[in-house]
Amino acid sequence: MTVADALHDRRSCRSFIDRPLGPGILDNLIDKARRTPTAGNCQGVEFLVLEGDGVTAYWDTTLSAARRVNFPWPGLLSAPALVIPWGLTGRYVARYAEDDKTQTGLGDSSEAWPVPYWLTDAAFAAMALQLLVVELGLGCCFFGLFEHEEAVAKRFGVPDGARALGSIAIGYPDERAQRPSGSVDRGRRPLSGVLHRNSW
Ligand SMILES: Cc1cc2nc3c(=O)[nH]c(=O)nc-3n(C[C@H](O)[C@H](O)[C@H](O)COP(=O)(O)O)c2cc1C
Repeated sequence: MTVADALHDRRSCRSFIDRPLGPGILDNLIDKARRTPTAGNCQGVEFLVLEGDGVTAYWDTTLSAARRVNFPWPGLLSAPALVIPWGLTGRYVARYAEDDKTQTGLGDSSEAWPVPYWLTDAAFAAMALQLLVVELGLGCCFFGLFEHEEAVAKRFGVPDGARALGSIAIGYPDERAQRPSGSVDRGRRPLSGVLHRNSW
């Protein structure tokens, strides 16, 4: 499978069969996904990997019993693994305070950053992880943490200043129970609508 194949074949998978991932699969995926570029080669993205009780604790933290009743994607809760890439803000600020980066002024504080590269790098890693999952023939879905970022950080002992964009559910797709999000009906915009040659 080529990278182009993986991009073409990837679809958000929101229903999984109740089957754990084989030993070593997640470690191997993350070992590969962590090779994406990082600002200043800071390597400031770390991955919270949840399986078994960790997955249960995640849903207990983010999905109340009341919301669970009519939750539109119950099969998402069967995913055997969840991975949350966190960008460690402090690592970026410290890296950019080093001699070769001081001229940027970004080593003073996280507020000095026009673009929070810890989130950029976490997004790169999240995308790489999804493509690697597709390459293995597994399913995945990236979904937002919304207002639960702080609660998840607290529940799993994530250090202060770490920021996450969302979570990635990974597992074996339950093909009979896929229910795409309404967003998919929007279709794909044409290339001519997104490519601006020489001028917007
Ligand atoms: C930043 C971001 C946040 C997303 N949040 C959610 C979410 O909270 N719930 C969900 O079911 N899908 C979520 N998605 C998945 C998108 O709905 C999905 O990628 C989009 O509809 C295109 O469908 P496809 O992934 O099957 O190509 C999110 C995707 C991104 C990139």
